[in-house]
Formats: sequence, C-alpha cells, structure tokens
Amino acid sequence: MAKILLETLKGNPSDRVPFWFMRQAGRYLPEYREVRATAPSFMDFCYSPDKATEVTLQPIRRFGMDGAILFADILVVPDGLGQDVWFEAGVGPRLNPVTDKASYDRLSLGAFHEKVGNVYETLRRLKVELPSDVTLLGFAGAPWTVATYMIEGAGSKDHAAARQMGYGDPELFGKILDLLVDATAEYLIAQIDAGADAVQIFDSWSAAIPEPMFEKWVIEPTRAIVDKVRAKHAETPIIGFPRLAGAMLPEFVARTGVNAVSLDTGVPLSWAAEHVQSQVCVQGNMDPHLVVAGGQPMVDEANRILDKLKGGAHIFNLGHGFVPQTPPENVALLSETIKNFRR
Ligand code: CP3
Repeated sequence: MAKILLETLKGNPSDRVPFWFMRQAGRYLPEYREVRATAPSFMDFCYSPDKATEVTLQPIRRFGMDGAILFADILVVPDGLGQDVWFEAGVGPRLNPVTDKASYDRLSLGAFHEKVGNVYETLRRLKVELPSDVTLLGFAGAPWTVATYMIEGAGSKDHAAARQMGYGDPELFGKILDLLVDATAEYLIAQIDAGADAVQIFDSWSAAIPEPMFEKWVIEPTRAIVDKVRAKHAETPIIGFPRLAGAMLPEFVARTGVNAVSLDTGVPLSWAAEHVQSQVCVQGNMDPHLVVAGGQPMVDEANRILDKLKGGAHIFNLGHGFVPQTPPENVALLSETIKNFRR
C-alpha cells in the first residue's frame, strides 16, 4: 500500500490529507505511562529499543496516523557527544552546561554512534513492525535549539546563556554549532540507513531572533545539515520546524532547501498558503490546547485548516506537541475528522 504521507512530502498529494501529531506518543496515553513507569530514567527509556518501539506504535494502533515518529529526544545528541544529560521529575531536562573552551573540548564525536546506537535499533524494529502504509519519521533537534539546552544546562524561557554566548563569544558559539551540524547530520543519515522514510529537524526556540543572527544560528546550520544528508540520501524528504519564526519562514524555506515546513499555531493560513505552501509542503498549525477542550470547536478548526490548505501539499499536524492533559477520545475525534475530509 502507498505511503500517502511520504508521497505528499515528495510533492504528490492525494485526495485524503495524511496526518500525524507532534508528541503523539506521550503522557496523555495511559498505555505510554505504563511503559514509562518501567524505565529507570527518561534517557534509559529513549535507549531501550523494546520500550521505545512499543510507545512509538501505541498511537498508531489507537488512532491510525499516517506517520509514526521515532520515540527518542532531541537531547540524545548532546548525550552522544559526551555531555551529561538527565531528566528531573517536575523540572525537565538538565545538563552539565558548556560554558567555556574547556567544557567544549570535552565533547567529541568519537563515541557518538556507539552511545546512541540503540536509537538506530529502534528504527530497524519499527521498520519491520509498522504497517506498510505508515511513514516512519526520524528526527533531531536543530543546532540552535539543542545549543540552548547545552549552554544553559536546562530549559529556559529566554535562552539568555546561548544568546549571550552567541554575541559575546561568537568563536566558541560557532564551534558548538559546527559540532552540532556534524553530529546531527551523521545522526540523521544513520537514522535513514536504519529505515526512516523522512526526517524532521525541530528548531523549537527559533523565536524573536534578530535577522542577521537568524541567518547564522538557524538558517546556515540547518542548510548545512540538509546538504550533508542530501549528499547521502538525495530522495529522503526533510521537514523543517523553525517554531515562531514568523515572517522569516519563506526565507527559511528558500535558503535551507527543506522539502516541507511545520507551521506553529500563530501562522496565518492564507499568508502561509501564498508565501510558504507555494514553495513546499506544509504541516501543522492546530492549537494543541484546543484538543484538550475538544468538541465542535475543535472539529470546526480542523476543517478550517484542511480547507485553507487544500490548494497544495498539506499534512495535518499540530502547531506544537500534545500536552499531557489531552483526552485520548478528543484525539480519536480529531483523527476521524481528518480521515473523512476530501480535497
Ligand atoms: O511522539 C513524539 O513526538 C516523539 C518523541 C519526542 C519526544 N521529544 C519525547 C518526549 C520528540 C520528537 C521530542 C522532541 C523534543 N524534546 C523537543 C522538540 C519538540 C518540542 O516539543 O518543541 C524538545 C524541545 C525536547 C526537549 C524535552 N524533552 C523537554 C523540554 C522535555 C520535558 C518537558 C516535558 O514535557 O516533560 C522532554 C521530555 C520528553 N520528551 C517527554 C516525551 C514524551 C516527556 C517526558 C516523560 O515521559 O517523562
């Protein structure tokens, strides 16, 4: 059977609009929480092919999405480079921050694939277990977003430490981005070797960056990754997600060469159709908090998005990931709404 999500990414859309959801595997599903409880830590969970395969498949069994996204985390990359990464309950990710040349020098690609190799094993198992019409999506964080965690040592609201290093010590900051470009390109190439049909690069924190810095911190590293991945796997679609990049989106698409782009919740759809979807396939935009509320307003909004983007290649998705309070029955209703729409 045809993979309609993969075909849409390649610019061959079908009558039915394919769909998947960011954070479709996660705490809103009781069966996820059950598996999660058996892992000693979140990083162990990401590196356990049995458990990661199982939770990747859970939402597909329940809702029949057209895409399955590998279960792992963007912070696998700094972990593979030798930085300490751990998750604290109620706090989120923590890392030993990279603050100077000495802490940068402790990072290396030397043991990367060995350290993260179980993620590739998860993909090999998914390739065997997934229905033949489901597209297998790999992913990584974009260098800018991953660097915000590496330099801050945690999540943060304004990414102050990364911005200040970017301005104050551009040489060190550039070295960190360059290392992340190399690691991320190798990581995505290995994911495709292991069976990923397409990959997404998450730049979750690319909001409110001044234009010259957006070029250096967001566009150039992403473009370098796209070039390296294409050199090995010319046919594999790459999805970009410069979240909250606003009016920079058309330039991001044109300059990075991605095959598709994810739209956050604030992007106006008529504008996106004219300036973004005219260049590449688009996905995204549905407010994840509307799926918490559910009901007719959610159905109406899903139909509005489907209608606004019906003129070109479109994959239905959210503007950001599901939140833990999302009732699974609302996800079922949303999935049925999308499956019943015809362009
Ligand atoms: O279903 C999927 O989307 C696949 C798996 C996936 C996870 N994280 C699992 C996860 C993906 C694609 C990610 C990407 C990710 N991780 C991003 C980019 C996308 C985005 O959301 O903006 C970012 C910024 C991270 C970093 C991260 N991981 C944070 C800040 C947190 C803690 C916040 C929270 O929700 O607890 C995580 C943990 C995490 N990653 C969870 C899941 C399901 C929840 C942790 C748990 O189950 O205990």
